[in-house]
Amino acid sequence: MSVLILGATSPIARQLGVRYAQLGQPVFCAARDAQEAAAIAADLRVRFQVQSGSAAFDARDLDSHPGLIAQVEDALGPLDVVVVAFGDMGDEDAAPDDPGQVRRVIEVNFSGAASLCEAAAARMTERGAGHIIGISSVAGDRGRQSNYLYGSAKGAFTLFLQGLRNRLHPLGVHVLTVKLGFVDTRMTFGMQTAIPIASPEAASAAIVAAQQKGTDVLYYPRFWEGIMGVIKAIPEGAFKRLKL
Ligand SMILES: NC(=O)c1ccc[n+]([C@@H]2O[C@H](COP(=O)([O-])OP(=O)(O)OC[C@H]3O[C@@H](n4cnc5c(N)ncnc54)[C@H](OP(=O)(O)O)[C@@H]3O)[C@@H](O)[C@H]2O)c1
Repeated sequence: MSVLILGATSPIARQLGVRYAQLGQPVFCAARDAQEAAAIAADLRVRFQVQSGSAAFDARDLDSHPGLIAQVEDALGPLDVVVVAFGDMGDEDAAPDDPGQVRRVIEVNFSGAASLCEAAAARMTERGAGHIIGISSVAGDRGRQSNYLYGSAKGAFTLFLQGLRNRLHPLGVHVLTVKLGFVDTRMTFGMQTAIPIASPEAASAAIVAAQQKGTDVLYYPRFWEGIMGVIKAIPEGAFKRLKL
């Protein structure tokens, strides 16, 4: 049973590919950069002696998504696990009213992510089996001035995954929502913070363990559940005065 990693060039996604290949599962790597996706897939094939495949895709090209899922199943057989690992925080220096930025961040993190989950769900529900892993963010738990565009798109994705889980549970398909805190990737490069930053290796280990246990929602690192519990409990009247 095969594994599809969407956004395979992310360091967290690369580590997920390694973990599933170590388990002996065929892995299909999809990324915007076809050459990079092919190189990651070839590395898994050589190092772990598993079947692998690759293709280019764009999260924003919604019409291509059902075809991509069909291509993966034609190449590697029925999908057991689909990981939505791609994401886009937006450009820090873009103006808040830049329409291109608003469109891109929402299309990648929400529309594209939801569309790919639905395309995978359509195949998995036919068989009554499978796991969909959506990588969301603690940024989606409360809107903050520093990243509310990205946060709201991730928050919408979190809600989408909740509804999808509710629909797919009786049909035998498991949906795991991963709410990541800080992980050491391009997204956190150069960030100054007193909060510990997790490694992609540790994050991927926690994600695969949660998928295997059938967990519904994983906060990783786990202490973020407590942090977000406190942040969510602050009354709006006080919250709007904070610089977060
Ligand atoms: N790192 C953190 O602290 C953190 C925290 C919370 C949530 N997350 C989430 O974790 C996931 C992995 O991110 P990361 O931290 O590993 O960051 P990353 O290295 O920037 O990875 C982002 C991935 O998204 C892909 N991507 C962006 N736009 C795309 C598009 N239009 N179509 C297809 N792929 C696209 C990128 O592809 P290219 O290589 O082509 O750019 C890359 O593979 C994301 O969902 C992110 O939102 C990360």
